[in-house]
Amino acid sequence: METAFKSFPVIETERLSLRKIHTADARAVFAILSEEVVAEFYDDDPYSSVSEALEQIGIWEWIFTNRRGIRWGITLKSGGGLIGTCGFYAFHRLHLRAGIGYELAPIYWRQGVMTEALSAILDYGFGEMGLNRIEASVMPGNIASIRLLEGLGFTKEGLLSQYEHWGSKGFVDLVMYSLLNSKK
Ligand SMILES: CC(C)(COP(=O)(O)OP(=O)(O)OC[C@H]1O[C@@H](n2cnc3c(N)ncnc32)[C@H](O)[C@@H]1OP(=O)(O)O)[C@@H](O)C(=O)NCCC(=O)NCCS
Repeated sequence: METAFKSFPVIETERLSLRKIHTADARAVFAILSEEVVAEFYDDDPYSSVSEALEQIGIWEWIFTNRRGIRWGITLKSGGGLIGTCGFYAFHRLHLRAGIGYELAPIYWRQGVMTEALSAILDYGFGEMGLNRIEASVMPGNIASIRLLEGLGFTKEGLLSQYEHWGSKGFVDLVMYSLLNSKK
C-alpha cells in the first residue's frame, strides 16, 4: 500500500493515459466542470471561473500528498489535453475502503471511455492500494453513472436519504453502490 503513494502512478490503457493533474490543466478542468450537464448530478454548481478549477486541482494535489486519495487526469493516447478525471477519495487505511469519483467532457460520453478508465483504476485500487471495498454514492436520477457502475460489477446497497447538503441542490438523496475485492 505504501508504494501506491510514493510517486504519482501513471496508468495506460488501450486508448487512455491516466496521469497527474497539473495547474496547467486548469482551463481543461474548467471547461468540463462549467458544463451544466456535468454538474447536474454533482456536489457543486457549474464552475463560473478558472480559479475554481485551480482550487480543485490544489485539493486533488493535497489528497495525494496526504494519502487520502488519488485523482487521475484522463487523456487520449492519440493526443490532446485532459478530457476528464477519475479517482479515489476518502481512502481509509484501517478499513481499506475508498470512494470513487469521475467526470468526462460530454463530447466523449457513451464511447466506453469511463468504463475503460475505471476498470484500470479499480485494478490499481484492489491491487497496489490494497483496497477491500470501493464505494460510489450517486444521485438516483444519474442513469449514466448508475449504468457505468453496474457494468463494472458494483452492487446497489441502498438509499441514503438526504445524506449530503450540496449547495443550491440542498439536501440530496444518494444511492450507495459498492464493489468488494472478494466479489469483483
Ligand atoms: C457518468 C459518465 C462519467 C459516464 O461516462 P461514459 O464514458 O459516457 O460511460 P461509458 O461510455 O463507459 O458507459 C458506461 C455504461 O453506461 C451507459 N450510459 C452512459 N451514459 C448513459 C446515458 N446518458 N443514458 C443511459 N446509459 C448510459 C452506457 O451505455 C454503458 O452501458 P453499456 O456498457 O451497457 O452500453 C458521464 O456521463 C459523465 O461524466 N457524467 C457527468 C458527471 C457525473 O455524473 N459523474 C458521476 C457522479 S456520481
